Amino acid sequence: MADNTTASTESTGLNQAVREALDNAPTTHPQLLEWVREMAEMTQPDAIHWADGSEEEWNTLTTELVDAGTFVRLNEEKFPNSFAAFSDPDDVARVEERTFICTKTPKGAGPTNNWEDPAVMKETLVKKFTGSMRGRTMYVIPFVMGSLDAEDPKYGVEITDSAYVVCSMRIMATIGTPVLDKMTRDNAFFVEALHSLGSPLEPGEEDVPWPCNTTKYIVQFPEDRAIWSFGSGYGGNALLGKKCYALRIASAIAHDEGWLAEHMLILKVTDPEGDSRYIAAAFPSACGKTNFAMLEPTIDGWKAEMVGDDISWIRFKEGQARVVNPEAGLFGVAPGTGWTTNPNAMRGVARGNTIFTNVALTDDGGVWWEGMTDEVPDHLTDWKGNDWTPDSGRPAAHPNSRFCTPIKQVDILADEYDDPEGVPLSAIIFGGRRKTTVPLVSESFGWEHGVFQGATLSSETTAAAKGAVGVVRRDPMAMLPFIGYNANDYLDHWLDTGARVGEEAMPKIYYVNWFRRTADGGFAWPGFGENSRVVKWIVERLKGTAGGQETPVGIVPTKEDLDLSGLDISDDELEAALRVDQEEWLAELPGIDEWFNKLGDVPEVILEQRAGLEERLKNS
Ligand code: GDP
Ligand code: PGA
Ligand code: MN
Repeated sequence: MADNTTASTESTGLNQAVREALDNAPTTHPQLLEWVREMAEMTQPDAIHWADGSEEEWNTLTTELVDAGTFVRLNEEKFPNSFAAFSDPDDVARVEERTFICTKTPKGAGPTNNWEDPAVMKETLVKKFTGSMRGRTMYVIPFVMGSLDAEDPKYGVEITDSAYVVCSMRIMATIGTPVLDKMTRDNAFFVEALHSLGSPLEPGEEDVPWPCNTTKYIVQFPEDRAIWSFGSGYGGNALLGKKCYALRIASAIAHDEGWLAEHMLILKVTDPEGDSRYIAAAFPSACGKTNFAMLEPTIDGWKAEMVGDDISWIRFKEGQARVVNPEAGLFGVAPGTGWTTNPNAMRGVARGNTIFTNVALTDDGGVWWEGMTDEVPDHLTDWKGNDWTPDSGRPAAHPNSRFCTPIKQVDILADEYDDPEGVPLSAIIFGGRRKTTVPLVSESFGWEHGVFQGATLSSETTAAAKGAVGVVRRDPMAMLPFIGYNANDYLDHWLDTGARVGEEAMPKIYYVNWFRRTADGGFAWPGFGENSRVVKWIVERLKGTAGGQETPVGIVPTKEDLDLSGLDISDDELEAALRVDQEEWLAELPGIDEWFNKLGDVPEVILEQRAGLEERLKNS
């Protein structure tokens, strides 16, 4: 027997525990069994755990993470069943330079993505992943993005050696036994999503609280619908159902199947007459999606509810756009989220069951970050574990620190948030962070003009991705880091979809900017709950009851068209928020041209829109 065991261990690289876990797998799904076996042979884990998604499993894993020093259990009375994690200081954000779209030809990935030949990349990655789970447990997480009751459920299975990822995925998606059972019963296709921290443990070697690797690879194979992520434990790099699947892989699927996978929140608004409408909005990372999704209107009689805060899957059926939020949780930016700016998020988080990453700890076992409360605590432990006081001269929480919370805990969640059919979509908003030029809100002249607005969307970079902060870059539809194929084809797909479905049935397109500054550097517009005034104007435009002024860049409300009742704003600020300045916009054109040069193969319709803008500006 002993010989036999040794022989088979040698020939397959699998130890007894792993072989037993494979033999006793809770599924008969052939593709899954074969893939898990292959991945185990390559990564050589000590054990395999099939995640069932149960509360018991959560309790076991969170306790293990506390024992390992990855998690700090928070004060039960303040934050029940909640934990704080602190990452390696070099593993705090998405890594766009290390993100690859591997298609057969470079053209498939296009001018905006990092490309590598799939076979070459696989060879590189196989080297990286070989033995990468040694000394660790391999977790197998069956998950579904969107409803398990959808007509065509979008399944995935993430293999990971991170228990932090398992716990986070349990919040962000529907995972475990019910998913695996249905997937197995239907022998359904699933996206293979492989993740390793890239930090194997040799016998006797002591673990660190946040294992990761200095070399990172976030690799999508859109043609194979597969994801390989190596070296990072950070959310956007490691929770593979989110950006990697629901945006990069899903956008490629959507292109093939005739729908749209977008970086958009979904908001339900009900006006004083009781009419409800759904609006999706695309803002780049850390530019206000989660906050806008949880809008608390400051105007009488208007009600806002949340459907989703980050990702939208928009399908077209019987001449109607319908949108689904594929996620089950929030992975929100902590700094700036506070009791005055976003009480809905704060209430959701305070219910517990939350994983915080890279926030600061209070002395009584709670958490704190910049902007959470108006009052700043006298003493904290900062995200790097050091003592912190208000005069330390550095932020206590990392600027990209996060909370990960079940969406069900948001008390303004719309009942229909998980309707497998989605909700009807009336308007799409694009927006970014611009100190200048872009007015508070404008309405597009039509679908093609709206697609042009989206295609030329610009925003200052934020801490959500590694690299310089505050640099203006073009970010088409807020999807620059997430388009899983050629950006020119992506723009074509938007145009084709409008032409196919018909302009009348398409959502109307708006472009907003909450971040314009006045001459003295302050925000021109107060933002947050006051954005409800912009929502009101949009809804009234949809109903045909609000006025607006035609400008070269779109239809913009005048002071009179906006409900400003009870708003504390000076004339200067309002003027700065709404102004469409010919000079500023003419100065914008070279940036647009540079962007189009980079894209290279921009759809003709978009170029015509560019010419139209210049003409309108020169004649204004
Ligand atoms: P997301 O990553 O797109 O979901 O962005 P968040 O909603 O988490 O917001 C990112 C940052 O932008 C936070 O620091 C917010 O406080 C800030 N923010 C969000 N909405 C507004 C707004 O309307 N005005 C201003 N000035 N800041 C905002
Ligand atoms: P977000 O992205 O900033 O758009 O919420 C999360 C991430 O970093 O993946
Ligand atoms: Mn967000």
